[in-house]
Amino acid sequence: MNLLTTLFFGFLSLTGFCNGICMEEERQALLELKQGLVDHADRLSSWVASNGECCKWKGVVCHNLTDRVLQLHLSAPTQIVDLYDSVTLQLFGKISPSLLHLKHLSYLNLSNNDFGGIQIPKFFGSLKSLKFLDLSNAGFAGKIPPHLGNLSNLQYLSLRDNDLLHDENLHWLSGLSLLKHLDLSFNNLNKASNWFHFVNTLPSLLELHLAGSHLPKGQAEAFSSELGYA
Ligand SMILES: *[C@@H]1O[C@H](CO)[C@@H](O)[C@H](O)[C@H]1NC(C)=O
Ligand SMILES: *[C@@H]1O[C@H](CO)[C@@H](O)[C@H](O)[C@H]1NC(C)=O
Ligand SMILES: *[C@@H]1O[C@H](CO)[C@@H](O)[C@H](O)[C@H]1NC(C)=O
Repeated sequence: MNLLTTLFFGFLSLTGFCNGICMEEERQALLELKQGLVDHADRLSSWVASNGECCKWKGVVCHNLTDRVLQLHLSAPTQIVDLYDSVTLQLFGKISPSLLHLKHLSYLNLSNNDFGGIQIPKFFGSLKSLKFLDLSNAGFAGKIPPHLGNLSNLQYLSLRDNDLLHDENLHWLSGLSLLKHLDLSFNNLNKASNWFHFVNTLPSLLELHLAGSHLPKGQAEAFSSELGYA
């Protein structure tokens, strides 16, 4: 190895360039997340402290230069769920606020798991880098925390097919000025008066799904016919 090559590889290892070894803080955060989850099928078997290359852990995607955690793909695979055993591939349990240590997290997909009727955690509203948040069919219930309105970078939000209830006020939606895709289908938002005002003022919205959301009727029909949504 000549001097230049040595210097070059020295530089690469100093900067941690593309070696899959994430920051200690982020690795700990992922391990804490795993600790709170109940994972019968051992889907997170690669998530272990002895394996420092957390960018290669299943479901984790890091930035290709900085190795910061960007994406968590933790949805349960629906096709297999239907064919085999619907229980075992789902994640249950608690969602640790350690996620807040993933400062660059832009994609979080927890769909098709079963969080047993807990409320959507308020701290999700502090995951400031999120652009994609998919919580569809994941066993969330109760009121939607208005904290989600703090996710000002959010482009995609699906709360489809949970047991979310009566949200009298969807004013938090107005904080989501970059939102392109919104899915509130199959919930019970029957007390969300004035909701269409908030949806109507989302400047970036391209796609809206409200089937079976039980939003107050008159408004939904007026809104759909006005904008040509089905
Ligand atoms: C790294 O990511 C950037 C942006 O996501 C992308 O444009 C680039 O092609 C990637 N580079 C490599 C080597 O994969
Ligand atoms: C989340 O995962 C499900 C199941 O794998 C997939 O169908 C869905 O498109 C994902 N959501 C996003 C926003 O990528
Ligand atoms: C986030 O939103 C909630 C409710 O809308 C609010 O009470 C809280 O102060 C906000 N937090 C931050 C950090 O912006």
